[in-house]
Amino acid sequence: MENYFDFKKQIDDDKLRKIAHSLRNGKLAIFPTETVYGIGTNGLDSEAVKRIYETKARDFKNPINLLISGIDMVENVAQNITDLEYKLMEAFFPGPFTIILKKKPIVPDVVTANSDTVGIRMPNSEIAIKLVTYAGVPIAAPSANISGTLSGTSLQNMSNKFLNQVEYIIDGGKSNLGLESTIVRVIDGIPHILRPGSITPKQIEKIAGKVIIENSNLPSNNLKHYQLNAKAILVYSTDTIKMIDKLQKLSKNYKKAVILSYSENIKKYKAHYIDIIDMGSINNLELVSKELFANLKKAESLNPDMILIEGIKKDGLGLAIMNRLLNVCDNNYIEI
Ligand code: TXA
Ligand code: MG
Repeated sequence: MENYFDFKKQIDDDKLRKIAHSLRNGKLAIFPTETVYGIGTNGLDSEAVKRIYETKARDFKNPINLLISGIDMVENVAQNITDLEYKLMEAFFPGPFTIILKKKPIVPDVVTANSDTVGIRMPNSEIAIKLVTYAGVPIAAPSANISGTLSGTSLQNMSNKFLNQVEYIIDGGKSNLGLESTIVRVIDGIPHILRPGSITPKQIEKIAGKVIIENSNLPSNNLKHYQLNAKAILVYSTDTIKMIDKLQKLSKNYKKAVILSYSENIKKYKAHYIDIIDMGSINNLELVSKELFANLKKAESLNPDMILIEGIKKDGLGLAIMNRLLNVCDNNYIEI
């Protein structure tokens, strides 16, 4: 493939520079970031950004974030930035953190879905940060996936039909974190978490003194997210045995149920005829997050008539994991 660039082991800076210049001129690339893959172009070019919406079949009411490579670039696109907003950016840039700021008129309406704010993130991935730096303009980059489905965390996660729509595909291997960034908007001096991610409420509280968890309050809220080809039910109890019992009982209602379980719990399932996928150790939620979307895809590929998923305490990374899983199961959630 002529448009495929393998930067898994090493980045070819000359090639990356060429790709970045093409993006500035309105071409599209799928590329890795530390959270999930992005599909990006010049964030100040409304025609190019429109193509991203079309490629993703994204609702034009759902605004797109900009990736930037430094505070100077933030100041080119945002205004009236408060001390607290600067403090948060200092603390969490580069990283899995998106901040919603008041936009400057230079940002096209198509990027912000006609709102007066713009989402900004500085990625902590060598490929992504270099891509933005070489482009010299903010890169509009939503997650690389068809709207309503799981974000791509590796190229293997994406269909050829989707990949073939862009001019450049950069392979950086598996995304490090595997979950999309934490999105924060400061309202009346208090950070509100609009989407939980790897930056936890506690970390934000440390910087800001206070934080309000809205646990998903985005312009895209009324749209479907993280949809699979199979139905799913999420079950949680602080009593693990109770949770497993419930999942086992539920599994009997279906011809082919697949269970997603934490490593520690797998051996506790008696019904060994059930397909069980290991989500990883409950004591290593970083790894669970990293593999979560791949494991959901694996479950889906077994063509089950139901996917049954173990829940987890909504604490730290658990909050972000549960947020994604609640979307996956369309709020089909049982807490006992
Ligand atoms: O980690 C990430 O954030 C990844 C990587 C590629 O950077 N990107 C990502 O983008 O997840 P996307 O478009 O899939 O999700 C961004 C979310 C959307 O739900 C959108 O509604 C919200 O951010 N958003 C964008 N601009 C906004 C704004 N001005 N106000 C409020 N929410 C906004
Ligand atoms: Mg997305």
